[in-house]
Amino acid sequence: TDTESLHDAILQWYDESARDLPWRVPADEWPWPEVDRPWAVLVSEVMLQQTPVARVEPVWRTWMQLWPTPAALAAASPGDAVREWGRLGYPRRALRLHAAATAITQEHEGVIPADMQQLQALPGIGSYTAAAVGAFAFGIRTTVVDVNVRRVEARLVTGAQHAAPSLTAAETRLAETLLPADDADATRWNVAVMELGALVCKATTPDCNACPVVAQCSWVLAGRPAHD
Ligand code: ADE
Repeated sequence: TDTESLHDAILQWYDESARDLPWRVPADEWPWPEVDRPWAVLVSEVMLQQTPVARVEPVWRTWMQLWPTPAALAAASPGDAVREWGRLGYPRRALRLHAAATAITQEHEGVIPADMQQLQALPGIGSYTAAAVGAFAFGIRTTVVDVNVRRVEARLVTGAQHAAPSLTAAETRLAETLLPADDADATRWNVAVMELGALVCKATTPDCNACPVVAQCSWVLAGRPAHD
């Protein structure tokens, strides 16, 4: 596979076709001065882990109005956080965010650390969330590998229909191999591949006609074999 042409095609597709989601607004265009942008990214990532964008967006907006900073949420009760979680499901995630907000307030003076190890050390923040906040909030060069990314890269490079049941070392290495050399491109690449998986390279009904890299896709070239 020619990695550079994959980068060009997918980054261009992202610029033209991605959804305008509020937590993706870059720092230099961030329209809510009172809302702490890394915090907004962290809350969005935890909400998006098990809930689709359309249901997350209104609850995320409410959270940002109620609690624009980690300190604001830390000053509320855990019960308030759970109540405002609404119907997103898996409400323990609200408690995890409350615990993270409390630690950020008490141990980091309310400032989310721009450091992968310190992010991972926060309560309620796993390796995926730390990577997403590092990349999307701070532009740290790291791979952000969710199930969408794993599926896109499996099809494109390995020719498999689906990703492995859970993240493997080979998938992590593949994601690292595919990360563009340019740091700014690398940040956009992470979200672009994720978006391609969410909108086009979908799990059960992939829309290969709309795919910017269909001509280079190992799974398509193999005749889209089903493996299940
Ligand atoms: N943009 C950034 N992270 C995202 C995610 N996890 N899901 C959807 N859109 C996102």
